[in-house]
Amino acid sequence: NGIFTYDPGFVSTAACESAITYIDGDKGVLLHRGYPIEQLAEHSDFLEVCYLLLYGELPDADAREKFSNTILHHTMVHEQIISFLKGFRRDAHPMAIMCGLVGALSSFYHDSLDINNERHREITAHRLISKMPTLAAMAYKYSVGQPFVYPRNELSYGGNFLHMMFATPCEEYKVNPVLAKAMDRIFLLHADHEQNASTSTVRLAGSSGANPFACIASGIAALWGPAHGGANEAVLKMLEEIGNEKHIDTFIKRAKDKDDPFRLMGFGHRVYKNFDPRAKVMKQTCDEVLGELGINDPLLRIAKRLEQIALEDEYFVERKLYPNVDFYSGIILKALGIPVEMFTVIFATGRTPGWIAHWHEMISHSYRIGRPRQLYTGPAKRDYPAK
Ligand code: CMC
Repeated sequence: NGIFTYDPGFVSTAACESAITYIDGDKGVLLHRGYPIEQLAEHSDFLEVCYLLLYGELPDADAREKFSNTILHHTMVHEQIISFLKGFRRDAHPMAIMCGLVGALSSFYHDSLDINNERHREITAHRLISKMPTLAAMAYKYSVGQPFVYPRNELSYGGNFLHMMFATPCEEYKVNPVLAKAMDRIFLLHADHEQNASTSTVRLAGSSGANPFACIASGIAALWGPAHGGANEAVLKMLEEIGNEKHIDTFIKRAKDKDDPFRLMGFGHRVYKNFDPRAKVMKQTCDEVLGELGINDPLLRIAKRLEQIALEDEYFVERKLYPNVDFYSGIILKALGIPVEMFTVIFATGRTPGWIAHWHEMISHSYRIGRPRQLYTGPAKRDYPAK
């Protein structure tokens, strides 16, 4: 009716102001609080980036130590969570479990849910970052019928996650520092990406005053879809389906065919019309991890060849479709022994500081409830038929 701007998919609508992350999609630039992602990936680590996203500056040595200690010493979850988890079917997708577990945290920590209390907000942010890997590993252990493994505070964030995933009562898991660092880097590369679907969902849920655990649970649900965080799982399945370099052309043809719903997973992005800078770091990490493990994965060869062919193909060139963060992450995760169903859970764990930083930024400034309008296309007013 001319009153509203109609912008399906929010292609050209800014829904908020934010000082956390900057993206220049044409140049392939991603900055967190001004720092380029490539520099953070090389010189920093996940916990330092969490601090940067939450507090706006890199920590000095004391603040860093205090923050790391806080996060690494609050990794345990309430034992009652185990009873809740055991209500799920064994074959439940771990993302379904994560939506439930994270939402359920609000019933365990109701003593610190006053969203107008700065200290409560901070405690919740710390709790979420601390406990996500524990919940993620529990979801995995449950699915394979193994006992849950308690966190170990002396391990690094990435190392502790691998320990909780792979240790058993019969066998200790020796954390390989190269692999723990790779895990940390995967978390770091996912830490934030401004107003993507899941972060916008967290903000929208938060704008009603909902508690932060419930808001993050809604973000996890939005992340699950294959167009967003579910793409890493879909990439690996696609590479396995391609199976051999000689089949690549068939899949490229299918991706270009408008009558075929198939898309090249891990390719294309709403904002990047150039290389996703995270994909470049991911590709390099992929080579490092496979080199360390002495793995010669044919899927990596297929992925590299597929990337090369797509980057030279007119269809992909014209539409500026480049590999995104999900294209190489699955190959690394597979090499680390992580099953494909856990890939999006790992994305969710890495994205938690971004979600909570955006929620916190919104709540600590003036905000209004998010309430998009619509263009009504249904019937005009009509009378209920006489009986
Ligand atoms: N394969 C084939 N064609 C594609 C692809 C693809 N992966 N991505 C976009 N296109 C085509 C699309 O068909 C359209 O063509 P046309 O103009 O002829 O109709 C054009 O490129 C623009 O695509 P769009 O769907 O309008 O773009 P969008 O901004 O709405 O969608 C996207 C972005 C990421 C959902 C989409 O590129 C896609 O589905 N990619 C595959 C899934 C994927 O890898 N997702 C992870 C995104 S990065 C991590 C994250 O943020 O979660």
